[in-house]
Amino acid sequence: EKGGYDYFMLKEIAEQPKAVADTLLGRIDASGALRLDEIRIPANVLREADKIVVVACGTAFHAGLIAKYAIEHWTRIPCEVELASEFRYRDPILDHRTLVVAISQSGETMDTLMALRHAREQGARVLAICNTNGSTIPRESDAVLYTHAGPEVAVASTKAFLTQVVACYLVALYLGQVRGTKWGDEIRAVIRDLAQISGAVERVLETMEPVRELARSLAHKNTVLFLGRHVGYPVALEGALKLKELAYMHAEGFAAGELKHGPIALIEEDLPVVVVVPSPRGRSVLHDKIVSNIQEIRARGARTIVIAEEGDEAVVPYADHLIRIPATPTLLQPMVATVPLQVFACELATARGNEVDQPRNLAKSVTVE
Ligand code: M6R
Repeated sequence: EKGGYDYFMLKEIAEQPKAVADTLLGRIDASGALRLDEIRIPANVLREADKIVVVACGTAFHAGLIAKYAIEHWTRIPCEVELASEFRYRDPILDHRTLVVAISQSGETMDTLMALRHAREQGARVLAICNTNGSTIPRESDAVLYTHAGPEVAVASTKAFLTQVVACYLVALYLGQVRGTKWGDEIRAVIRDLAQISGAVERVLETMEPVRELARSLAHKNTVLFLGRHVGYPVALEGALKLKELAYMHAEGFAAGELKHGPIALIEEDLPVVVVVPSPRGRSVLHDKIVSNIQEIRARGARTIVIAEEGDEAVVPYADHLIRIPATPTLLQPMVATVPLQVFACELATARGNEVDQPRNLAKSVTVE
């Protein structure tokens, strides 16, 4: 059942190209437009939505944080992303024009379920993004867009995460399509780029041996920090979460722009810091900023582990370890940049003798508060 792999997690990491492709399958027509008939929320309701609120927990929350950048860029609808456990105990401002997107692999997470009930009581429409057919969250939502990752057994979420990002992007693009925003041509271009992502993930998977070696060499460390900007920031958070739950190491993700507001005080000699570098093409301001951040932390002794696009030479002088990922459009980079972080955490857990598929104290679906 593990298909020759030692752990379900390794199998599920390897299945990501297929999971991503399957989640797109049948949802794009021959003309390159989206066909999401399964979203049964009427087009006029989608056209009138004036706010999007994403609720989720853990890794699904990180997918939501990434989605915010895409949703606001493609639809121009304001989008908030909130931990379901916080949202449900606030007094959020919602009405019938609010579209709530509840993301959950299992469809059974109690906090996310309570958040969506809370939203529906106030008249909001709820669209679930879920990987488990017929589970409670999609049953209680107005509509559902299923991710087609297949069953995810390992407690640490991997392939579900990538497909959640894809599904969120489909929703964002679909909203753009239905609302006829000026992004029409861009939408078609992104759909074409999305179709290439599965191949890019495949290529990342073929080059993971140095990442495994690096992980083994860091097995004695106590702390690893992760930095990112823009969509690389949630990727940093996800990298840190994977390391906590699998390697039981202290790990934190930061927005690189926050360094000077506190976290830089943590940098000491030989502290491993993973930095997710945005593409040097397009939004090059982001790229330049992060190269300075890498210089700043390295000058203070950090051991820099740099995840950067193939062909990005500017980072080379400052990278103690360089992990290459294929060039992708900025908004799609999280789908390739997260993969080395999954492999890194999995290998560190193995090197530290931890149970990879069943980390201590954790359950696959958290059906209690
Ligand atoms: O089933 P869900 O997507 O609702 O689960 C949410 C979180 O419990 C889950 O992503 C958790 O954070 C994972 N163990 C992370 O790897």
